[in-house]
Amino acid sequence: MATPLVIDTDPGIDDALAILLALASPEVDLRLVTTVHGNVELAQTTQNALRVLHLAGRSDVPVAAGARESLVYRQPERAGHVHGEAGLGGVKLEPSPAVPDARPAVVVLAELLMAAEEPVTVAAIGPWTNIALLLATHPEAAERIGRLVLMGGSAARGGNVTAAAEFNVWADPEAAQRVLGSAVPTVLVGLDVTLPTVLDDDGVARFAAAGPVGATAAAVLQQYLDHARTTYGTTGVVLHDALALTEAIAPGTLGTVRRDVVVDTTLGAGRGQTLVDRRAVSGSPTAVDVAETVDSAAAVEFLVARLEALARSRL
Ligand code: BDR
Ligand code: CA
Repeated sequence: MATPLVIDTDPGIDDALAILLALASPEVDLRLVTTVHGNVELAQTTQNALRVLHLAGRSDVPVAAGARESLVYRQPERAGHVHGEAGLGGVKLEPSPAVPDARPAVVVLAELLMAAEEPVTVAAIGPWTNIALLLATHPEAAERIGRLVLMGGSAARGGNVTAAAEFNVWADPEAAQRVLGSAVPTVLVGLDVTLPTVLDDDGVARFAAAGPVGATAAAVLQQYLDHARTTYGTTGVVLHDALALTEAIAPGTLGTVRRDVVVDTTLGAGRGQTLVDRRAVSGSPTAVDVAETVDSAAAVEFLVARLEALARSRL
């Protein structure tokens, strides 16, 4: 039986890859995509989510738009310099015939959770504003989340948008604190495991050669690759969101330790930092499973093989 899955996302190049990975994975049944502000503005992340689903021939998956802004302070800047002004690396995907659900994402998500007969996995790979709103407005629905897999934060690697903060947490630190302070069973997939997980040119070439869907995914990745090379000197694409999806699809992919985590919500230089208490394993009900170890080569191979198969199936 496939596990029901919801992806909360701000596509975003690596978000697009993560959505394709979920669609390529029989272990999960993607039931809903909710969108959030983040890499680009909400209207664009919603349009991008629709188009990525359509690219894979899955415009039947419902999309609902969520928070346009962060909870308290407006996110200071977007990430168009990383993902391209329209969020998909300058590639114009074909418009989808589908339209978003007219209702707010939290309403659609709450309805799905209350109606689900089995526990639902929710993978949140943009700022966590929608999840914080769900906890505040529909706590009875949030309680029914089987597993919440969050991409964001960092225990020992510092930040990627400031010296202290990772992008998804920095984009809405108050929401992040609300989410990490909840009792929902949570896995935190942060920079400690994503930064070493790099997809190189050879991997990209494999799915690019497998058919038009793979070739389009490779074209979308190009801007991200160029940015990574010039900014960080890395030899490929860091798989932040796709690694979180891999853990959502195949629980136990990452080595985790239960830790207490709080978010710096002050307005100083540490804003958005995740303070992970690594002194001890925690027994607190609000502790989260922090991903600390990864077999990066295996995770990259998992993604490449799945995308190759998806591209072939769409020939
Ligand atoms: C996160 O920030 C975004 O730009 C990526 O899509 C990913 O979710 C990595 O810090
Ligand atoms: Ca993202």
